Amino acid sequence: MPITNTSKGMRTVHDIPVLRDIPVLVRAALNVPIEHGGVANDYRLRRALPTLQYLSERGARIVLVSHIGDKGTETLKPVADALSRLIPNVSFCETTIGEAARQAVRALHPGHILVLENVRRDRGETENDPLFAKELALLADVFVQDSFDTCHRMHASVVGVPKLLPSYAGILLAEEVQELAKAMRPGHPALAVIGGAKFSTKEPVLKSLLKVYDHVFVGGALANDFLKASGHDVGVSLVSGAPADDIRTLLENEKLVVPTDVVVTTPEESGTPDARTRARVTEPRAVGKNESILDVGPTTSALLAELARTSKTILWNGPLGNYEHGFTDATDALARAIGASNAHSVIGGGDTIAAIEKLGTLS
Ligand code: 3PG
Repeated sequence: MPITNTSKGMRTVHDIPVLRDIPVLVRAALNVPIEHGGVANDYRLRRALPTLQYLSERGARIVLVSHIGDKGTETLKPVADALSRLIPNVSFCETTIGEAARQAVRALHPGHILVLENVRRDRGETENDPLFAKELALLADVFVQDSFDTCHRMHASVVGVPKLLPSYAGILLAEEVQELAKAMRPGHPALAVIGGAKFSTKEPVLKSLLKVYDHVFVGGALANDFLKASGHDVGVSLVSGAPADDIRTLLENEKLVVPTDVVVTTPEESGTPDARTRARVTEPRAVGKNESILDVGPTTSALLAELARTSKTILWNGPLGNYEHGFTDATDALARAIGASNAHSVIGGGDTIAAIEKLGTLS
């Protein structure tokens, strides 16, 4: 049964009639950054706690299903370890489905939590295989969706399982939907900043935002697609290969803002410790054939800071530069500008949150 909106609003965990001793499968957002084998930022885990505490206090047997990373091979084991430092009675199951997983669920005590292995290790997840969804559904009597970050994915743990089990929204999901609904009725002037990559998943978002926001800034690897579609040679920058015509249609909208300067480096330098200091700032039209764009430049950053200062609403998702390789200047500058502004701000995305947490501007 899909999550439905009742006349009172979205059906949430608060509406689950009985929880004592009931196995509940929670689709959680446990896709956190891992560094040196441990969780580098546990913000998403802390955000998952209200639903887990609610279910645990009522004696549900909680089964967590999530993905981590983008290779499909990563493990959730360090995440289970980190979670166990935030909430008691967490154990880890080395498989996602099958008899071993069912046995681990049967052995769960009321109020205890079992973290299943990375759901994307099985292609059945991303292919939305009905048999895989059935295996997941066999693990519980009730399904709770608390992973807003994957709700746009046609994956088995997102759209397959709710067809098979009574389904409810988690506390975090309900809050995020409510916040986003508010953000789609922004106070003006309103600034949206969309960074990161993945043009295909962000295109519908950009279209919606252009209808209601005054400025929609595109940064991160996403901007490379726009610069390329504008006719610039972006060298060896990461691009998504999205159809240029789709991008040009968006570019025709005068609310759309793209970087006017960028930070570039060569692939040989980009992985080196001093890559950031050796990088150069240039206009998009002067990116070299052997260079890649790794951050938004200072002039664009200053423009963004000014837009943030004068905005009443700011919506931000996705870092503006290649954060993993140390190209953090534009992202950090925006986080500081938002922190200093009086705007109502809504910030989403694991990498973006991790970035601004480092600066301590999150409230
Ligand atoms: C994220 O961190 O962006 C979300 O967890 C979604 O991950 P995905 O794009 O791999 O589905």
